[in-house]
Amino acid sequence: MDIDQLNEIAIRMTAPGKGLLAADESTRTIGKRFDGIGLENTEDNRRNWREMLFRTTPAMTDHVSGVILFDETLRQKAADGTPLVKLIEDAGAVPGIKVDAGAKALAGAEGETITEGLDGLRERLAEYHDLGARFAKWRAVIDINGEDIPSQYAVDVNVHALARYAALCQEANIVPIVEPEVLMDGDHSIERCYEVTEFTLKRLYAELFDQGVILEGTVLKPNMVIAGKKCADQASHEEVAEMTAQCLLNTVPAAVPGIAFLSGGQSDLDATAHLNLLNEGFDMPWPLTFSYGRALQAAPLKAWNGSDVAAGQKAFNHRARMNGLAALGEWNEGLESEG
Ligand code: 13P
Repeated sequence: MDIDQLNEIAIRMTAPGKGLLAADESTRTIGKRFDGIGLENTEDNRRNWREMLFRTTPAMTDHVSGVILFDETLRQKAADGTPLVKLIEDAGAVPGIKVDAGAKALAGAEGETITEGLDGLRERLAEYHDLGARFAKWRAVIDINGEDIPSQYAVDVNVHALARYAALCQEANIVPIVEPEVLMDGDHSIERCYEVTEFTLKRLYAELFDQGVILEGTVLKPNMVIAGKKCADQASHEEVAEMTAQCLLNTVPAAVPGIAFLSGGQSDLDATAHLNLLNEGFDMPWPLTFSYGRALQAAPLKAWNGSDVAAGQKAFNHRARMNGLAALGEWNEGLESEG
């Protein structure tokens, strides 16, 4: 393991005004997104969509520091034969790879899940490094449902798996993005989200320490502290930023090089506004940026609509620029109409 190299990559991934494009939807999940525009889920359509995003544009060169890929995409070539990984590198961004195999039912804990994918991971990471991946992602899913979910058991096994994954990544000279996502599904309050996120992050950093993961060579991908989608009492943008900042300050060591939030089903505008307030209003020990999937791709997907590359890239440039500005605390809603 070369910790200086890992640290350099982690710093690049969270460089000022730049963030990560999470384009690592599984074949099934991208199919659901394509359903929204009535597009068939074929290998060519998946390639065309991602090629449109990764080609050198201001979005990629100025606002995207790295791209998280799915296994198929890491091996895929553009229509002209150029590997998609090379398109990303040519735009100055770092290619990364999702390595978990998804959340499966957790035995002994009804309604909770454990993320799988550790078997054979050492060998897969070595191959991914050869294919050009310099960072990886593993998503643990923590649901909130009433007082009993999540159980401590579910949190503990999930952070244990995250730490095992992170240690294997570092051994392979790949920066692990550690992503313990507390879901915003359900009707829970923002206070309950705070409580569960704080608990999860505290257990996560204890486990990373126990398993010898070097924090300087990691990136954290957390949820924001936010009320459940079905909660009648939705918090203001200011409250979300305030509680998210407080939660991170209470749990994340300053040695972590950077934090890149997931969007988790927030609207495009909410995800941007929250990130902006976090950067504008709080003096934090880490750069705070985005690692958005839906909040970066929903508008471009609609504009592209299966074939309109110019419209897709225009919409992508706009969302990437808005989030890039939010990562600097320089966004305001008036800029949205410039797109
Ligand atoms: P969303 O921003 O759509 O939540 O996706 C980010 C991601 O990679 C979740 O694992």
